[in-house]
Amino acid sequence: MIEVRNLTKNYGARRAIDSLDFSVNKGEVVGFLGPNGAGKSTTMKIITGFMAPTSGKALVAGYDVFENPLEVKRRIGYLPEHPPVYGDMFVKEYLEFVANLKGVEKSKISNLVKKAIEKTNLGQVQTRLIQNLSKGFRQRVGIAQALVSDPEVLILDEPTVGLDPKQVAEIRDLIKELRGHHTLILSTHILPEVEATCERIIIINQGKIVAQESLSNISSVNKGSRQITFKVRREIDALITRLSLMDGVLKCFKGNSPGSVVAEISGQDDMVELLAKEVIMSGAGLLEMQSMAQLEDVFIKLTYGSVEQ
Ligand SMILES: Nc1ncnc2c1ncn2[C@@H]1O[C@H](COP(=O)(O)OP(=O)(O)OP(=O)(O)O)[C@@H](O)[C@H]1O
Ligand SMILES: [Mg+2]
Repeated sequence: MIEVRNLTKNYGARRAIDSLDFSVNKGEVVGFLGPNGAGKSTTMKIITGFMAPTSGKALVAGYDVFENPLEVKRRIGYLPEHPPVYGDMFVKEYLEFVANLKGVEKSKISNLVKKAIEKTNLGQVQTRLIQNLSKGFRQRVGIAQALVSDPEVLILDEPTVGLDPKQVAEIRDLIKELRGHHTLILSTHILPEVEATCERIIIINQGKIVAQESLSNISSVNKGSRQITFKVRREIDALITRLSLMDGVLKCFKGNSPGSVVAEISGQDDMVELLAKEVIMSGAGLLEMQSMAQLEDVFIKLTYGSVEQ
C-alpha cells in the first residue's frame, strides 16, 4: 500500500533522510521510531505529499505521490507534527470543512463527521471554537480531521503528544480498532504505545533505517540478550560478584538508584527464573525485579549516542 524507494531529502547542506527503503502492506500498523531529529516527520511529510524529496520516490496505493498528488491525498489522512490551527472555526464546522476539501460525497459528510467526533471523544466540545480548546483537545481535533474522510491510509505524527494518560489509553484503543481497516504509520516516542498497537516497527537514526522488524521478532535484533534490574536491601557488592559468576550472565553492575543492580543476560525466561532464584538465595533481600522492555532495550542500543547534527 505504501512504497518508499531510495528516498533522500536534503535541507540545504543537511541530509535529513538518506536512501530510505521500506514498504507497508494494506491493513498493517507500523510504528516509526527514532530519536529527535532522526527524520521521522520529514519522511511523513514526503509520503503525504506535503514536501518534495530531493531524490527517490514514494507510492501510495500505486500512485506516485508527486505525479498524482490528488489521488494520494484522497486516500490519506494525515496528522502533522504541528497541526494547522483554524482557531476561528468551530470543531464540527472545521471537520465538515476538511471532509469537503477531501472531496467526500456531500451526503456522507454529516455521518462521517459524527463518527470522527465519537471516535476521538470530541462530543462535549464540538460546538466550541478551536482556539479556546486545551492543547489535548486540539490534538484530538487533529486526529479527528485525519480520520474524517475514512481514508485507506493514516499517517499520524506523534498522535498522543500533549494528551493526558486517560486520553493516551483511549487513542491507543482507537488505533487498535483501526487496525485491519486502515493502513497506518505512526511515529511516537512512547515505546509501550508501540508495543501495544503496532505489528511492525521501523527504527530510523540520523536519517537511515537501522531496524525493520515485526514486533515479535524484535528480540532477534537484540541478539538474545536482555537486561534485568533488581532492587535489594543489602550486600550489593557480594551479590554482583555472585551473579557475575553465573553461566548466562554477560555483565552485572550497580544501577543508578540506591540498591539497584543490573544484570545483562543471554537466553530467555528460563535464565530469568534462575537469576531470580540466585538473588533470593543470596540473602540480599529482594525488593523489586524488572525486565527492561525489549523494545526499549533495542531502541537504545540502535540509536545510542546519536545527536542532532
Ligand atoms: N525545514 C527544515 N529546514 C532545515 N532543516 C530541517 C527542517 N526540518 C527538519 N530539519 C532537520 O532535518 C532533520 C530531521 O528532522 P525531522 O523533523 O524529520 O526529525 P524527527 O525524527 O521528526 O524528530 P522529532 O522526534 O524531534 O520530531 C533534523 O536534523 C532537523 O533539524
Ligand atoms: Mg518529528
